[in-house]
Amino acid sequence: MDKNSAIGVFDSGFGGLTAVRELIKLLPGEDIIYFGDTGRLPYGSKSRETIKKYALQDSRFLLSMGVKYIIVACGTASAVAADTKEIMPVPMTGVVEPTAAAAAKATKNGKIGVIATAATVASHAYLKSVNEISASVQVIEQACPLFVPMVEEGCVDRGDIVVKTMVERYLSALKRTGVDTVILGCTHYPLLTDAIRDYMGKNVTLINSGEQAAIYAKSELERLELLNGKKSGGSTDFYLSDDTEKFGALAEYYIGCHIDGRVERIDIEKY
Ligand code: DGL
Repeated sequence: MDKNSAIGVFDSGFGGLTAVRELIKLLPGEDIIYFGDTGRLPYGSKSRETIKKYALQDSRFLLSMGVKYIIVACGTASAVAADTKEIMPVPMTGVVEPTAAAAAKATKNGKIGVIATAATVASHAYLKSVNEISASVQVIEQACPLFVPMVEEGCVDRGDIVVKTMVERYLSALKRTGVDTVILGCTHYPLLTDAIRDYMGKNVTLINSGEQAAIYAKSELERLELLNGKKSGGSTDFYLSDDTEKFGALAEYYIGCHIDGRVERIDIEKY
Protein backbone atom coordinates (compact mmCIF):
# COMPACT_ATOMS: atom_id res chain seq x y z
CA MET A 1 0.00 0.00 0.00
CA ASP A 2 1.26 3.47 -0.88
CA LYS A 3 1.62 5.74 2.15
CA ASN A 4 1.19 8.74 -0.12
CA SER A 5 -2.31 7.73 -1.19
CA ALA A 6 -5.37 9.45 0.26
CA ILE A 7 -7.56 8.35 3.15
CA GLY A 8 -11.08 7.51 1.92
CA VAL A 9 -14.11 8.50 3.99
CA PHE A 10 -17.76 7.84 3.20
CA ASP A 11 -21.19 8.58 4.59
CA SER A 12 -24.71 8.88 3.25
CA GLY A 13 -24.39 12.69 3.20
CA PHE A 14 -23.03 15.50 5.36
CA GLY A 15 -22.66 13.44 8.56
CA GLY A 16 -19.23 12.04 7.73
CA LEU A 17 -17.92 15.60 7.69
CA THR A 18 -17.82 15.33 11.49
CA ALA A 19 -15.05 12.75 10.97
CA VAL A 20 -13.37 14.83 8.24
CA ARG A 21 -13.31 17.90 10.50
CA GLU A 22 -11.42 15.91 13.12
CA LEU A 23 -9.13 14.21 10.59
CA ILE A 24 -8.04 17.56 9.16
CA LYS A 25 -7.16 18.67 12.70
CA LEU A 26 -5.35 15.46 13.62
CA LEU A 27 -3.61 14.77 10.30
CA PRO A 28 -3.28 18.07 8.40
CA GLY A 29 -0.75 16.61 5.97
CA GLU A 30 -2.95 13.75 4.76
CA ASP A 31 -5.02 13.86 1.58
CA ILE A 32 -8.67 12.93 2.07
CA ILE A 33 -11.22 11.74 -0.46
CA TYR A 34 -14.80 12.03 0.80
CA PHE A 35 -17.84 10.39 -0.72
CA GLY A 36 -21.31 11.52 0.38
CA ASP A 37 -24.14 9.41 -1.03
CA THR A 38 -26.50 12.39 -1.10
CA GLY A 39 -28.52 10.91 -3.96
CA ARG A 40 -29.57 7.86 -1.92
CA LEU A 41 -29.75 9.26 1.62
CA PRO A 42 -31.07 8.47 4.20
CA TYR A 43 -29.54 5.04 4.86
CA GLY A 44 -31.04 4.73 8.34
CA SER A 45 -34.55 3.90 7.19
CA LYS A 46 -33.45 1.37 4.51
CA SER A 47 -33.32 -2.43 4.75
CA ARG A 48 -30.15 -4.26 5.78
CA GLU A 49 -29.67 -5.58 2.20
CA THR A 50 -29.86 -2.10 0.71
CA ILE A 51 -27.48 -0.61 3.30
CA LYS A 52 -24.97 -3.42 2.66
CA LYS A 53 -25.18 -2.88 -1.10
CA TYR A 54 -24.65 0.88 -0.70
CA ALA A 55 -21.72 0.41 1.69
CA LEU A 56 -20.04 -1.93 -0.80
CA GLN A 57 -20.54 0.46 -3.72
CA ASP A 58 -19.28 3.43 -1.67
CA SER A 59 -16.18 1.44 -0.70
CA ARG A 60 -15.59 0.34 -4.31
CA PHE A 61 -15.76 3.94 -5.47
CA LEU A 62 -13.14 4.97 -2.89
CA LEU A 63 -10.95 2.02 -3.91
CA SER A 64 -11.20 3.14 -7.54
CA MET A 65 -9.68 6.44 -6.36
CA GLY A 66 -6.69 4.53 -4.98
CA VAL A 67 -7.23 5.16 -1.25
CA LYS A 68 -4.96 3.43 1.30
CA TYR A 69 -7.52 3.24 4.12
CA ILE A 70 -11.31 3.55 4.39
CA ILE A 71 -13.21 5.20 7.23
CA VAL A 72 -16.87 4.28 7.30
CA ALA A 73 -18.02 7.61 8.74
CA CYS A 74 -21.62 6.44 8.85
CA GLY A 75 -23.07 4.86 11.96
CA THR A 76 -25.65 2.96 9.96
CA ALA A 77 -23.19 1.39 7.49
CA SER A 78 -20.76 0.67 10.35
CA ALA A 79 -23.50 -1.09 12.33
CA VAL A 80 -25.20 -2.99 9.52
CA ALA A 81 -22.45 -3.61 6.95
CA ALA A 82 -19.45 -4.21 9.22
CA ASP A 83 -18.54 -7.36 7.26
CA THR A 84 -17.70 -5.25 4.17
CA LYS A 85 -14.20 -4.86 5.61
CA GLU A 86 -13.56 -8.59 5.24
CA ILE A 87 -13.49 -8.28 1.45
CA MET A 88 -11.59 -5.00 1.23
CA PRO A 89 -7.99 -4.96 -0.01
CA VAL A 90 -7.23 -1.99 2.27
CA PRO A 91 -7.81 -1.56 6.03
CA MET A 92 -11.24 -0.25 6.92
CA THR A 93 -12.66 0.99 10.23
CA GLY A 94 -16.03 2.33 11.29
CA VAL A 95 -17.53 4.35 14.10
CA VAL A 96 -19.15 1.79 16.44
CA GLU A 97 -16.27 0.23 18.39
CA PRO A 98 -14.24 3.38 19.07
CA THR A 99 -17.36 5.32 20.06
CA ALA A 100 -18.63 2.55 22.35
CA ALA A 101 -15.18 2.34 23.98
CA ALA A 102 -15.11 6.10 24.61
CA ALA A 103 -18.61 5.99 26.14
CA ALA A 104 -17.80 3.01 28.36
CA LYS A 105 -14.79 4.94 29.63
CA ALA A 106 -16.77 8.16 30.18
CA THR A 107 -19.77 6.88 32.15
CA LYS A 108 -19.64 7.19 35.92
CA ASN A 109 -23.12 5.93 36.80
CA GLY A 110 -23.13 3.01 34.33
CA LYS A 111 -26.03 4.36 32.25
CA ILE A 112 -25.38 5.18 28.61
CA GLY A 113 -27.87 6.48 26.06
CA VAL A 114 -27.46 5.73 22.35
CA ILE A 115 -29.19 7.92 19.80
CA ALA A 116 -28.89 6.78 16.20
CA THR A 117 -30.84 5.93 13.08
CA ALA A 118 -33.61 3.30 13.10
CA ALA A 119 -31.38 0.74 11.32
CA THR A 120 -28.52 1.26 13.78
CA VAL A 121 -30.83 0.95 16.79
CA ALA A 122 -32.39 -2.21 15.32
CA SER A 123 -28.91 -3.74 14.95
CA HIS A 124 -28.08 -3.04 18.64
CA ALA A 125 -24.48 -2.66 17.47
CA TYR A 126 -23.57 0.02 20.05
CA LEU A 127 -25.32 -1.84 22.87
CA LYS A 128 -23.42 -5.06 22.04
CA SER A 129 -20.14 -3.22 21.70
CA VAL A 130 -20.52 -1.40 25.05
CA ASN A 131 -21.58 -4.60 26.80
CA GLU A 132 -18.57 -6.45 25.40
CA ILE A 133 -16.41 -3.93 27.23
CA SER A 134 -18.55 -3.83 30.37
CA ALA A 135 -21.51 -6.19 30.79
CA SER A 136 -22.89 -4.26 33.77
CA VAL A 137 -23.42 -0.99 31.90
CA GLN A 138 -27.05 -0.25 31.10
CA VAL A 139 -27.57 0.96 27.51
CA ILE A 140 -30.77 2.72 26.48
CA GLU A 141 -31.32 3.17 22.73
CA GLN A 142 -33.42 5.76 20.91
CA ALA A 143 -33.90 6.22 17.17
CA CYS A 144 -34.12 9.85 15.96
CA PRO A 145 -35.04 9.51 12.26
CA LEU A 146 -35.75 13.17 11.55
CA PHE A 147 -32.33 14.40 12.74
CA VAL A 148 -30.65 13.36 9.44
CA PRO A 149 -32.93 15.36 7.11
CA MET A 150 -32.69 18.32 9.51
CA VAL A 151 -28.88 18.31 9.30
CA GLU A 152 -28.97 17.87 5.51
CA GLU A 153 -31.17 20.98 5.31
CA GLY A 154 -28.89 22.99 7.59
CA CYS A 155 -31.57 23.03 10.30
CA VAL A 156 -29.22 22.72 13.31
CA ASP A 157 -29.40 26.01 15.20
CA ARG A 158 -29.92 25.59 18.96
CA GLY A 159 -32.47 28.45 18.98
CA ASP A 160 -34.54 27.07 16.08
CA ILE A 161 -38.00 26.03 17.22
CA VAL A 162 -38.00 22.95 14.96
CA VAL A 163 -34.66 21.82 16.38
CA LYS A 164 -35.76 22.39 19.99
CA THR A 165 -39.07 20.60 19.45
CA MET A 166 -37.50 17.53 17.80
CA VAL A 167 -34.71 17.29 20.38
CA GLU A 168 -37.25 17.33 23.20
CA ARG A 169 -39.50 14.84 21.43
CA TYR A 170 -36.73 12.31 20.88
CA LEU A 171 -34.75 12.80 24.08
CA SER A 172 -37.33 13.34 26.84
CA ALA A 173 -37.69 9.63 27.71
CA LEU A 174 -33.92 9.16 27.58
CA LYS A 175 -33.36 12.14 29.88
CA ARG A 176 -35.72 10.65 32.47
CA THR A 177 -33.62 7.46 32.66
CA GLY A 178 -30.74 9.44 34.20
CA VAL A 179 -28.05 8.52 31.65
CA ASP A 180 -24.80 10.44 32.28
CA THR A 181 -23.35 9.73 28.81
CA VAL A 182 -24.99 9.84 25.39
CA ILE A 183 -23.51 8.33 22.24
CA LEU A 184 -24.28 10.47 19.19
CA GLY A 185 -24.30 7.25 17.21
CA CYS A 186 -25.13 8.70 13.83
CA THR A 187 -22.40 10.93 12.42
CA HIS A 188 -24.97 13.57 11.51
CA TYR A 189 -25.98 14.10 15.13
CA PRO A 190 -22.82 15.87 16.39
CA LEU A 191 -23.92 18.75 14.18
CA LEU A 192 -26.84 19.13 16.63
CA THR A 193 -24.55 19.07 19.68
CA ASP A 194 -25.50 22.53 20.99
CA ALA A 195 -29.22 21.78 21.01
CA ILE A 196 -28.71 18.29 22.47
CA ARG A 197 -26.43 19.67 25.20
CA ASP A 198 -28.90 22.47 26.01
CA TYR A 199 -31.62 19.87 26.52
CA MET A 200 -29.69 17.08 28.28
CA GLY A 201 -27.70 19.45 30.52
CA LYS A 202 -23.98 20.01 30.79
CA ASN A 203 -23.45 17.14 33.22
CA VAL A 204 -24.25 14.64 30.48
CA THR A 205 -21.22 13.71 28.37
CA LEU A 206 -21.89 13.58 24.64
CA ILE A 207 -19.72 11.19 22.60
CA ASN A 208 -19.19 12.32 19.00
CA SER A 209 -19.01 9.26 16.72
CA GLY A 210 -17.38 11.11 13.81
CA GLU A 211 -14.63 12.42 16.07
CA GLN A 212 -14.04 9.01 17.66
CA ALA A 213 -13.83 7.35 14.23
CA ALA A 214 -11.14 9.84 13.18
CA ILE A 215 -9.13 9.45 16.40
CA TYR A 216 -9.22 5.67 16.02
CA ALA A 217 -8.30 5.80 12.33
CA LYS A 218 -5.27 7.94 13.18
CA SER A 219 -4.06 5.36 15.70
CA GLU A 220 -4.59 2.56 13.18
CA LEU A 221 -2.76 4.45 10.42
CA GLU A 222 0.14 4.97 12.83
CA ARG A 223 0.15 1.32 13.88
CA LEU A 224 0.11 0.16 10.26
CA GLU A 225 2.79 2.71 9.32
CA LEU A 226 0.54 4.18 6.67
CA LEU A 227 0.90 7.89 7.42
CA ASN A 228 2.55 9.97 4.69
CA GLY A 229 4.70 11.87 7.20
CA LYS A 230 3.66 15.36 6.03
CA LYS A 231 2.82 17.95 8.67
CA SER A 232 0.59 20.16 6.52
CA GLY A 233 -0.75 20.78 3.04
CA GLY A 234 -3.18 17.87 2.79
CA SER A 235 -6.01 18.22 0.27
CA THR A 236 -9.67 17.24 0.72
CA ASP A 237 -11.73 16.34 -2.34
CA PHE A 238 -15.47 15.69 -2.23
CA TYR A 239 -17.57 13.42 -4.42
CA LEU A 240 -21.35 13.24 -4.20
CA SER A 241 -24.03 11.15 -5.86
CA ASP A 242 -26.34 14.16 -6.30
CA ASP A 243 -26.14 17.88 -7.05
CA THR A 244 -23.00 19.57 -5.81
CA GLU A 245 -24.57 23.03 -5.74
CA LYS A 246 -25.80 23.30 -2.18
CA PHE A 247 -22.88 21.26 -0.80
CA GLY A 248 -20.06 23.82 -0.62
CA ALA A 249 -21.40 26.48 1.73
CA LEU A 250 -23.01 24.06 4.17
CA ALA A 251 -19.98 21.73 4.13
CA GLU A 252 -17.68 24.65 4.96
CA TYR A 253 -19.95 25.58 7.85
CA TYR A 254 -19.94 21.99 9.14
CA ILE A 255 -16.20 21.40 8.67
CA GLY A 256 -15.35 24.85 10.00
CA CYS A 257 -12.87 25.79 7.28
CA HIS A 258 -12.70 26.83 3.64
CA ILE A 259 -13.00 24.06 1.05
CA ASP A 260 -10.62 24.50 -1.84
CA GLY A 261 -10.56 20.91 -3.09
CA ARG A 262 -12.68 19.50 -5.86
CA VAL A 263 -16.44 18.95 -5.44
CA GLU A 264 -17.76 16.57 -8.10
CA ARG A 265 -20.82 14.50 -8.83
CA ILE A 266 -20.35 10.80 -9.67
CA ASP A 267 -22.65 7.93 -10.69
CA ILE A 268 -22.38 5.56 -7.71
CA GLU A 269 -24.51 2.88 -9.39
CA LYS A 270 -21.52 2.11 -11.66
CA TYR A 271 -19.50 0.75 -8.74
N1 DGL B 1 -24.56 9.60 9.04
C1 DGL B 1 -25.36 8.39 8.90
C2 DGL B 1 -25.19 7.57 10.17
O1 DGL B 1 -24.19 7.78 10.83
C3 DGL B 1 -26.75 8.79 8.54
C4 DGL B 1 -27.55 7.65 8.09
C5 DGL B 1 -28.68 8.01 7.22
O2 DGL B 1 -28.43 8.38 6.08
O3 DGL B 1 -29.81 7.81 7.66
O4 DGL B 1 -25.95 6.72 10.51
